[in-house]
Amino acid sequence: MQRRWLTVPVLGLLTVFLLTTLPAEQSTEVTQKPLIPEAYPPGELGEIVKLGQELVARTHEHPLSKQYVGNALDCTSCHLKNGTDARAASFLGVAAAYPAWSPREKRVITLEDRVLNCFMRSQNGIRPPLGSKVSVAITAYITWLSSGSEIRMNHQKPLGPRHVPSLSRKAELAEEKRGAKLYEDRCADCHGASGAGTTEGPPVWGKQSYNDGAGLSRNDKLSAWLKVSMPPDDTDLTEQEALDIAAYVNSHPRPHFILKEHLPPAERLGVYDW
Ligand code: HEC
Ligand code: HEC
Repeated sequence: MQRRWLTVPVLGLLTVFLLTTLPAEQSTEVTQKPLIPEAYPPGELGEIVKLGQELVARTHEHPLSKQYVGNALDCTSCHLKNGTDARAASFLGVAAAYPAWSPREKRVITLEDRVLNCFMRSQNGIRPPLGSKVSVAITAYITWLSSGSEIRMNHQKPLGPRHVPSLSRKAELAEEKRGAKLYEDRCADCHGASGAGTTEGPPVWGKQSYNDGAGLSRNDKLSAWLKVSMPPDDTDLTEQEALDIAAYVNSHPRPHFILKEHLPPAERLGVYDW
């Protein structure tokens, strides 16, 4: 009898202790873990990771990658801060999700395949050969940004743990006309009234932009990305505003994607060239 009376308060105290201390301990553990590795790997690997970072930053100008790019964009135009922004199509932790199932290709793809898909679609360019320096360096850079992440291959889609969350509002609710006005107020200063870009921001439609096979050419994807990415210093669009603007931006012409026009000659699909 006496023992029972003792157990109740002890259990109670234990519960209070667990509830108050455990979550706190867990959260400090998460915040202490650096998201971006503190140092490049030593030796030649570090050099390749640095090269990958440069290619992500200057894709359409860099002498190694520009031959594979068909517009005025760089990977960092959408994967903000070279993919280190935790929200805007982040590269942090991405390598841990691959190989992953790709519903579009109906097969399992590697991280390298995924990188090359963005060249063909978002960069409106030609697929760099598998195993080429460009492809290996960018893949090495993204893998380095995933240091310490637990491998959890994605069996549903080729997306990493921090992928852009879908909006809860349906894309069909978008209204282009409202989007036009919002674009003028919030976007045109940097991207130009004609969408062709300015020195402050890259093109968002027309020949120098992403093609209609790119993720962002879909209004649901573009609105979700805008919500967490634009305007760069002030990402405060409501879901409805992001949808309206996405519908307006994507109502303009952009290059049409035909897969075979973005593949290199068969003998250049994969190389051993360095
Ligand atoms: C026009 C915008 C745009 C450009 C330019 C672009 N991407 Fe992407 N990329 C996207 C979007 C949008 C996604 C989907 C991201 C999401 O849903 O979180 C994506 C996804 C990816 C993924 C998969 C991410 C994951 O979470 O698994 C990789 C890897 C990737 N891109 C690499 C690149 C590389 C490398 C380049 C440059 C050669 C590039 N991208 C250029 C828009 C772009
Ligand atoms: C202060 C200038 C600025 C404003 C305002 C701004 N952007 Fe951007 N935007 C940029 C820059 C700069 C980038 C490229 C990111 C980088 O290189 O760091 C970018 C990238 C983009 C991209 C991906 C690359 C491309 O060109 O397709 C889209 C789409 C985009 N912005 C749309 C918008 C929309 C829509 C708005 C209005 C809601 C907006 N931006 C407001 C500067 C701006």
